[in-house]
Amino acid sequence: MRVAVFGAGYVGLVTGACFAELGHHVVVRDVLTEKIDALRQGEVPIHEEGLAELLEKNRERLSFTTEVEEALSEADVVYVAVGTPPTHSGDADLTAVWTVIDELPRVARRIVLAMKSTVPVGTGRAVRHRLGERGLENVGYVSNPEFTAEGTAVNDFLNPDRIVIGSFDPADGDVVAELHKDIDAPILRSDVNSAEMIKLAANAFLMTRISFINEIANVCEATGADVVKVAEGVGLDRRLGPHFLRAGIGYGGSCFPKDSLALKQLASNSGYHFQLLAAVIEVNELQKRRVVGKLERRLGSLRGKRIALLGLAFKPGTDDMREAPSLVLAGRLQAEGAEVSAWDPVADPTGQLDGVAIAGSALEALEGADAAVIVTEWPELRDLDWAEAGARMRNRLVVDGRNMLDPATLRAHGFEYEGIGRAVN
Ligand code: UDX
Repeated sequence: MRVAVFGAGYVGLVTGACFAELGHHVVVRDVLTEKIDALRQGEVPIHEEGLAELLEKNRERLSFTTEVEEALSEADVVYVAVGTPPTHSGDADLTAVWTVIDELPRVARRIVLAMKSTVPVGTGRAVRHRLGERGLENVGYVSNPEFTAEGTAVNDFLNPDRIVIGSFDPADGDVVAELHKDIDAPILRSDVNSAEMIKLAANAFLMTRISFINEIANVCEATGADVVKVAEGVGLDRRLGPHFLRAGIGYGGSCFPKDSLALKQLASNSGYHFQLLAAVIEVNELQKRRVVGKLERRLGSLRGKRIALLGLAFKPGTDDMREAPSLVLAGRLQAEGAEVSAWDPVADPTGQLDGVAIAGSALEALEGADAAVIVTEWPELRDLDWAEAGARMRNRLVVDGRNMLDPATLRAHGFEYEGIGRAVN
């Protein structure tokens, strides 16, 4: 089949590369000329496991353009994979989505518009209406949300838990189902509103689990239990399962923070105060800041203290720093008068961390530091020469925001170690 993908960001590129891998012919369209030029030359603008290989392997079925007409000339399905960032009110900003809809030219044949971007419930209905106003009755509409996580997006796309297809006309849903026929996963067919809500609800549920385990961690600290063991014991209950129970310094990224706000706002706009979700968001905000209190309890005032942030990306396996806890933490530490150094193996913080000394290696970031904070659980940090790290630091203190290090090993190297929700000895 022939697929056009509008938007060459994380979601659009992964969608395009994976459909090409499934044997479809794909044109990826973006408004940014430099991005399209780079992609044409075989450069991949983002760090995503397996993506570069897939783009290279399927070159003959993939092309890139800035032209709407070129992207649409033969397409059976047009995917919308543009950004939907939050506005000041917390609603999703659908400007880029509407631009795509308004740019669609009249086509003689039937095509299906498939929404991959995360949008509020009711968007499909509004798009359907706008297409009607523009006389584009032969453009079908399907909601086909993505559930891919950064770092594992290619694998998540090709081996999903489920494929959700919401349509107004079942025949349009059939076309999108056909695109996925070589993927071995259950397909859930629904109305458009429900498909839109499935995406928002799934994300909100995952965030609820994270904030829940983070609060359990905070109570563990107050009572002397170890959240790592607690999560293991809780997760063995088949009704609960082990996933998304890693306590830490809070979730970040391009999806969770914006999608939770958008769902909360969507509920408010419809006259419902979503109390649980509001609490999930607040717990997450406080969780990022708790590290500062931990450092102060050990070091006293942070004025003039040097704190090394190890990891800047919102999670390992990606260079993405959108809504990363590192940004909040760096800002809070600087506000307390600390000097902040930082290291990340792939994220490029240029322009995002004013006044932070960016180091070329973790050891360099630790030079003269009074404390190290593990912000992102990069595997490199587990393998770090902690004896050497201790020798370089002014004071041997590690606050492990991801509970990734072995406390006994650190203590053997003379460190004070504090995790999240772990008994402090
Ligand atoms: C998420 C969803 O998983 C995905 O389905 C959706 O399409 C987009 O949003 P992503 O943001 O890429 O994907 O990453 P994910 O692995 O889900 O992690 C999100 C954040 O939660 C990270 O900051 C991570 O560190 C944090 N997290 C995750 C925890 O703090 N604890 C956990 O147990 C799991």
